[in-house]
Amino acid sequence: MGPPFSQRFPALAPLRGGDLLSSADLSAEETLALLDLAAEFKRGSLHLDLSGKALGLIFTKASTRTRVSFSVAMGRLGGQVLDLNPSVTQVGRGEPVADTARVLSRYVDALAIRTFEQRELADYAHWASVPVINALTDLEHPCQALADLLTIRENFGDLRGLTLTYVGDGNNMAHSLMLSGALLGMHVRVACPEGFCPDPAVLDQARKLAGRAATISVLHEPVPAVRDAEVLYTDVWASMGQEQEQQQRLQAFAGFCVDEALLAEADPRAIVLHCLPAHRGEEISAGVIEGSASRVFDQAENRLHVQQALLAALLADPNTPCS
Ligand code: CP
Ligand code: NVA
Repeated sequence: MGPPFSQRFPALAPLRGGDLLSSADLSAEETLALLDLAAEFKRGSLHLDLSGKALGLIFTKASTRTRVSFSVAMGRLGGQVLDLNPSVTQVGRGEPVADTARVLSRYVDALAIRTFEQRELADYAHWASVPVINALTDLEHPCQALADLLTIRENFGDLRGLTLTYVGDGNNMAHSLMLSGALLGMHVRVACPEGFCPDPAVLDQARKLAGRAATISVLHEPVPAVRDAEVLYTDVWASMGQEQEQQQRLQAFAGFCVDEALLAEADPRAIVLHCLPAHRGEEISAGVIEGSASRVFDQAENRLHVQQALLAALLADPNTPCS
């Protein structure tokens, strides 16, 4: 029998029973402690028992990584996962969030929700009496950003002072990376075409979080934006729900592909990340995603470890022994 969870990871105590709706819901200290815990789970050096706990997944959009990694993470902790897909529950027939959230809170210990509007996620969090986790909205993807930070830390050690250039659409991924990067003292540059910038409110929030330690910038020229960057990141040009804009976006994003020529402008040690799914030949070239700088499959694996850490932080009883 090892020490209690609360003694091993005191920085995570404030997260117990709370929600994760935004990357900015975590402090820098909590984010780093989650990464430490994730790294321990990844090494296999920590065992924690959440048997008897249940996680509900309410996913209004498609998912491979998030759905499977949450399911396996909960399984590794001894807990249970229920797929509450709107097509098989009354959610799809319009049962109000206020009722669904209160009912499900009587059955499950946490809800991971993937939906369109951040406001709907906030509604779930308002009505639920159990932790609500953002499993992707149009505004943010905080679980992905945690996996990205773990991957960057595995490659560079300290995150502080690193430059991450996100090339592409100023979308949910860009937002969570700006917020997490700002918290952790990273320089985040978003290179996007005019008209596809990050949400000004998120940009403002990230700049406030960054203080003097980090810089958050938006540029419209990919080459100067990636110069000397240690991390290049990209994501699809048309996110889920924007499929009808696909053709128009292909034209608007011409020149914003992370290809060999763009990678050559970055720091020689640069790594390339993509949250996946990827469109080869659009936002990333086949050569780069399959090349030596790519860490996309480590990054995808890390979803499992950070979410195991997150579930432990939100759900573990402080006296649960760690072994
Ligand atoms: N990166 C990510 O969230 O992938 P899925 O859409 O497959 O969950
Ligand atoms: N920006 C993408 C991320 C997918 C993981 C989307 O929202 O579809």
